[in-house]
Amino acid sequence: MNKKIAPYQWAKNVGSEVLRFDTNTLPDPPPCIKEFLKELTNSCPINEYGDPSYDKLKKLISKYENISENTITVTNSGDEALDIIGKAFLNNGDYFLIQPPTYEIFKSQCEINRGKAIEVPLLEKTFGTDVNNVIKILKNKSIKITFVCNPNNPTGTITKLEEIEMILKNTSGIVLVDEAYREFYGVTCVPLLAKYDNLVILRSFSKFGAMAGARVGYLLASEKLSRVFDAIRFPLGVSYFSCKLAEILLEQDQNWIKEQTKMIKNERERLSRLLEKLGFFVYPSQANFILVNFGKRAEEICQKLKESNILVRDRSNKKYLEGCVRITIRNQKQNNILINSLKKIL
Ligand SMILES: Cc1ncc(COP(=O)(O)O)c(C=O)c1O
Repeated sequence: MNKKIAPYQWAKNVGSEVLRFDTNTLPDPPPCIKEFLKELTNSCPINEYGDPSYDKLKKLISKYENISENTITVTNSGDEALDIIGKAFLNNGDYFLIQPPTYEIFKSQCEINRGKAIEVPLLEKTFGTDVNNVIKILKNKSIKITFVCNPNNPTGTITKLEEIEMILKNTSGIVLVDEAYREFYGVTCVPLLAKYDNLVILRSFSKFGAMAGARVGYLLASEKLSRVFDAIRFPLGVSYFSCKLAEILLEQDQNWIKEQTKMIKNERERLSRLLEKLGFFVYPSQANFILVNFGKRAEEICQKLKESNILVRDRSNKKYLEGCVRITIRNQKQNNILINSLKKIL
């Protein structure tokens, strides 16, 4: 038994009175939730299993992504997609490469699948990708999976497409590009799928679709790899409800998704400038969150915000992130509440 595995740490039993700046979620559920509930009232065949092919959802994703249905694997969340990747490519003791500070589940899920981590930290100060070092390692060691989080959680920084291509060209293993936050950046490596059969892209409805509670994600890869992923996933890992909600979202709410994305991007710039005015360093972000350096007062500030029913993600005691706190961008009103609370604390 692997006794070293520690559970993912985050806030539990948070009441509805708390403003959540700690989960990188959107401020409101999608408008299609009304239609979804109406449809359920009319017909809800919950006594039966759903469609294990997720054909309808795959058709809609294929249009959204402009890519063939045969390259899509629907999963129960982005996190399950990571588990599938671990199961597909790792044998006991195989190496995977991560670039900390990054999404912690890359490491934990691959370790659960018996892999061994090799770390190539992001560059100091800018949190850019250390491509030269990544390639050096890829040339010297057999690395089964190389993770690129684009934009990266928790820094909000990006890896350029040219850099991703350099990595793809220099490994015989797969490169997993996590595009959970793509909409807030606007750049994708989907077109590279036609050129590289070792590229796998991870997506999640949690962020752009404002449906984190429903747990739906998907993988994009070559047809050959997609057949492997499809064999590994649970036959019906996505519930009838979640599948239906994702379908209705893509049928009805694509304009809303664009509007929300625009609002978040505007608020990201506004909140960043306001935090800078308060004297903090804010890392430039292409995601729906920002990393802010609160320095030595980080823990105290997070605690005081908590006392005012505001949760932020305190990363200040983490390696590479000393003094840093991750803050989700919410709507104008909520962001103003955060700024006013910070002013009072300071
Ligand atoms: C970079 C990244 N990838 C994947 C996920 C997984 O998202 P979910 O499991 O909600 O689909 C998250 C969630 O926060 C994330 O930050």
